[in-house]
Amino acid sequence: ASGTGRSSGSLDRLLDMFEAADGEYLSGEEISRRIGVSRTAVWKQIRRLKDAGYVFDASPKLGYRLEASGSALDVRRILAGLTTSRFGRDLTVLPKIDSTQTEAEKKARNGAAEGTLVVAEEQTSGRGRQGRVWHSPPGRGVWMSTVLRPEGPLTAVPQLTLLAAVAVCRAIRGVSGVEAGIKWPNDLLANGRKLCGILLEAVVEDGRVRHCIMGIGIDANLEEGDYPEELQDKVTSLLRESGTEVDRSALIAAVMNEFEQLYMLYAQEGFEPIRLLWESLSVTLGREIVVRDVRGERRGTAHGLGEQGELLMKTEDGALIPVYSGDIEI
Ligand code: BTN
Repeated sequence: ASGTGRSSGSLDRLLDMFEAADGEYLSGEEISRRIGVSRTAVWKQIRRLKDAGYVFDASPKLGYRLEASGSALDVRRILAGLTTSRFGRDLTVLPKIDSTQTEAEKKARNGAAEGTLVVAEEQTSGRGRQGRVWHSPPGRGVWMSTVLRPEGPLTAVPQLTLLAAVAVCRAIRGVSGVEAGIKWPNDLLANGRKLCGILLEAVVEDGRVRHCIMGIGIDANLEEGDYPEELQDKVTSLLRESGTEVDRSALIAAVMNEFEQLYMLYAQEGFEPIRLLWESLSVTLGREIVVRDVRGERRGTAHGLGEQGELLMKTEDGALIPVYSGDIEI
């Protein structure tokens, strides 16, 4: 069920009717009378709902019955799951897009409010950190981008990526029960394999952040065959970890709910509470790590997170070295 959170077309009215019928049959005639369209139009709308993943039982005598809400992304289910005041309220769900980052950035440039959310069933050019490609097959993942308008300086952006990792980690644990952990700075892993990546892209003007796009990719219901071969043993999904399909609409709402709460906490109390939460969810701390960045390769133990969100690495001679960017190996 793609569309926008603000429209309420006849498909919405039809869904309302079926939901109110609570699993009972509705005849084509009754539906057409109640929404004032022809029976052919009713049949076409039901077909559109089927395409969006809703499952109907059709009986020549009794009419139609909604069997299940289906597994497609659903604007209404996402909105129904929100407890936020702003995040996710302006919502667009698209069947297919090059990248939700690009789409959300366009909206931000045109003045979209903080919390505006773009979600897609499929991305044809999903992008990851450091110029990597983000594999985004249709119908099984969570590919979402949110507009942020942070007040702080550019140097605060890394803190926001850590905040995002905490929010998504909590949402994943709450909705799927999978014990995801954070690998610095903001990958989420389960049993050592990646299941979620986060990408914050800041648009800067005159040294200030004009807006920021927070992209989140969660391998929710991907199966082994959905990945390219070179990724097979490095990645996993919530489905593979838990054995059951996750309700992607509920997960998206949970991410927004967790994010808004932490974002407010951050505005009120600064980075310290976020830093502590991040540390408690981290799978990096205490581990031997290898850091590769512009300065080459360094080894040590991941010791903690600094005040700015930098990783503090303890070297063999006991020195604490801050790592601000790049990738680590654990
Ligand atoms: C990474 O781990 O490299 C970050 C991956 C971020 C992927 C998400 S999916 C939604 C949004 N749109 C994109 O093109 N990328 C982000």
